[in-house]
Amino acid sequence: MTSRIIGTGSCLPETVVTNAYLSTIMDTSDEWISSRTGIRKRHLVKEETTASLSIEAGKKALAAAGVAAEELDMIIVGTLTGDYVTPSTACEVQAGLGAVNAVAFDINAACSGFLFGLHTVNAYIHSGMCRTALVIGAETLSKIMDWNDRSTCVLFGDGAGAAVIQADEKGLVTFDQGSDGEKGKYLACRDRTNNNPLVQSDKVLAYTHMDGQEVYKFAVTYVPASIQKVLGEAGLQPEDIKYYVLHQANLRIIQAVAKRLKVSMDKFPISLDHCGNVSAGSVPILLDEVNRKGILQKGDRIIMSGFGGGLTWGTCLLEW
Ligand code: COA
Repeated sequence: MTSRIIGTGSCLPETVVTNAYLSTIMDTSDEWISSRTGIRKRHLVKEETTASLSIEAGKKALAAAGVAAEELDMIIVGTLTGDYVTPSTACEVQAGLGAVNAVAFDINAACSGFLFGLHTVNAYIHSGMCRTALVIGAETLSKIMDWNDRSTCVLFGDGAGAAVIQADEKGLVTFDQGSDGEKGKYLACRDRTNNNPLVQSDKVLAYTHMDGQEVYKFAVTYVPASIQKVLGEAGLQPEDIKYYVLHQANLRIIQAVAKRLKVSMDKFPISLDHCGNVSAGSVPILLDEVNRKGILQKGDRIIMSGFGGGLTWGTCLLEW
């Protein structure tokens, strides 16, 4: 027994922030950002929260799947920017959807969060502990950026994507996932101050910091290797895949992966031009965009791959 994606949805915040606007609040330019990353704009929250974006994306995915919220056994949200430390975003989603029969929890695997959630749900389904689940990747990264650090804050956006997963004989075929905690320092956010009275605290809020070149090297090495691994396990060649739905970190990373695999960029749909890097949200938002274009046929082979903070990576081969 495996599982199949039977519906997708996504939700982006209303406010669009262009590169041109960023160049009015920091020393940057549309030319620098778009030529190095492919990003032209991103959506950032004003009123929306990680939970509200997730609930909206989840509603759309349930409607597309024709599944009622009460039918869900499980909700997993991949996020590193939940609105609360507790309750989890997944519990907020459960309440927002009225998914009274679902167990709900978050996974923090940064940009691999949606893939880690998908793998977890598939394992539950395979074991018979779950039949229908909602997996969401959602972020409001704008709140953990240092808006004085132009080399990092221009890359990211906010948003949520969701998929309904159900037990089936066919669908998700094979997975690879991994973590390299030794490299965690290259993309980190300490975030909270320590309120323990026994510990001297500097009371300084910390924001995301990144060693862009190390993260770039990691991505262009580990992602093609992970994709080759799942292809090898399935006995397939890179050209047998219709679409590669990759984490939308940087166009140059995606081009490097395409080059390593020796496949055309036509097989790599792109959303980073209008969304930026939405961390755990990137893969499900892009999957939903591709799905809603109506270009996926039953049986199409798709590879999804997420990679980022941790450092972590996760790849899944599926038949649509
Ligand atoms: N606008 C204008 N100039 C900028 C800038 C910005 N937004 N950000 C950095 N610069 C400047 C730097 O200050 C530096 O100037 P200097 O040469 O005078 O010191 C110059 O541009 C080059 O900076 P550098 O960091 O070496 O650029 P780069 O070519 O490595 O590109 C990234 C930076 C972030 C685009 C690139 O490293 C990258 O894409 N890394 C992967 C990051 C990623 O995808 N992370 C998420 C993974 S989940």
